[in-house]
Amino acid sequence: MTRVADICAPDVVGPDAAAAVAAVAATLAADRQHVWHPFAQMQEYLALPPLAIASGSGGWLTDLEGREYLDGNASIWTNVHGHNDPDLNAALQRQLAHVAHTTMLGLTHAPGAALAAELADLAPPGLGRVFFSDNGAGAVEVALKMSFQFWQLTGRPEKIGVLGMAGGYHGDTFGAMAAGDSGWFHERFRPWCFSAQHFSAPLCREWGGHVRAADASASLAALRALLVAQADRTACLILEPSVQGAAGMRLQPPGFVREVAALCRAHNVHLILDEVFVAFGRLGPMLVCADEDVTPDFLCLAKGLTGGYLPLAATLASEEIFAAFLGPYASGRAFFHGHTFTGNPLAAAVALENIRKLRPLIADGTLHTRAAYFGRLLDETFASHPHIRELRQRGFAAALDLAPSRDSDVNFPVDRRTGLQVCLRARAHGLLLRPLGDSLLLVPPLCLDEHELGELVRRTARAIDDVLPT
Ligand SMILES: Cc1ncc(COP(=O)(O)O)c(C=O)c1O
Repeated sequence: MTRVADICAPDVVGPDAAAAVAAVAATLAADRQHVWHPFAQMQEYLALPPLAIASGSGGWLTDLEGREYLDGNASIWTNVHGHNDPDLNAALQRQLAHVAHTTMLGLTHAPGAALAAELADLAPPGLGRVFFSDNGAGAVEVALKMSFQFWQLTGRPEKIGVLGMAGGYHGDTFGAMAAGDSGWFHERFRPWCFSAQHFSAPLCREWGGHVRAADASASLAALRALLVAQADRTACLILEPSVQGAAGMRLQPPGFVREVAALCRAHNVHLILDEVFVAFGRLGPMLVCADEDVTPDFLCLAKGLTGGYLPLAATLASEEIFAAFLGPYASGRAFFHGHTFTGNPLAAAVALENIRKLRPLIADGTLHTRAAYFGRLLDETFASHPHIRELRQRGFAAALDLAPSRDSDVNFPVDRRTGLQVCLRARAHGLLLRPLGDSLLLVPPLCLDEHELGELVRRTARAIDDVLPT
């Protein structure tokens, strides 16, 4: 019988090889029998070779049987300084010695208050109010609900509409699904979602297989037309600035976010920037909005906020928004929203340490240099690869679109699962990747050095060549 307690006892996986083997088997059996994995066709998952992670160090993960893998997707786009980072561990342990959890409902605590001040300091001036939650979708729900309530409280209850950009992904809760445009992911839940309008995204322009730029003129014209027709009934527009990650690293040209912000401002529609994926060095800067000199009405943060350690999210709002919610209790103006683990002190303490470590890496150009090196490596290896139709990269985020031939627009049959096959093959080369259909998404921890970035690219190329020999 599976004994879950045994699985979790590290001393079992020690010198006693038989006990170690039994512990691995117990984990895999418990997983097969009981875990329903996210975003998974479980019939497919159960037919594939299982992989259970036991530990991590820097950019590397080790499975229960001792095999090492480069974490090529930063544990779902979260990891910043690496796994088992001594400074983040120490920050966590320091806080643990005080208290693991205490609520922010009616109370506060030192790491939460300090983190709110830190985020307000990082953000463009004016975004001084921080509402904590615990995941990216939650941060988006908060921004949407704050925007809706703001218009009610300020005498414009007819402003209820939501605009988003084609291909936008903001999470899997109902408001986030409604605001997004993730096609297949969310299609079957449409009947339960409020309607939102989506304007076309900038067109990526190709150059030698590596997309360098995007043309935003049609996109901005479409947005302008929507705003002219509907701004009076529209509460907010939500945008993933600079890169739409889950759409497959779709790029926006420099200046695009500023133009969208100016249009929103001119038409009195709130701008929600969803930086859940792009912030905390993922694209280079700490925050894309600060880098682009754009002040949104709401800013959503999660993923890299704790360096990939713990679930924590934040929605930043302007002072003007905050002020509208003030009044006597009986006025009912309060923002009635909250989650049990909102602003958890362990997560907040780790987030503070994450930011403290990240600041100098951004300020002294380390991250910038690393990201540029990553871009050059990708370019050299894949820009004219016969099975890569397109390569898109910004910062530490890249997508490689696999195709039978780079020169035609014929795709692999969906049920061939080419992207998945390459990722499974990558495991044999000591690399963990996740596909998005037949795109490979390379999203490494920001701590990888040049050698490790080289390994990431070389191992990816080997896996592609194994599955798709030329
Ligand atoms: C831009 C963006 N927003 C929101 C989310 C949802 O975040 P979470 O999975 O933490 O709910 C994601 C997740 O990938 C994302 O990329």
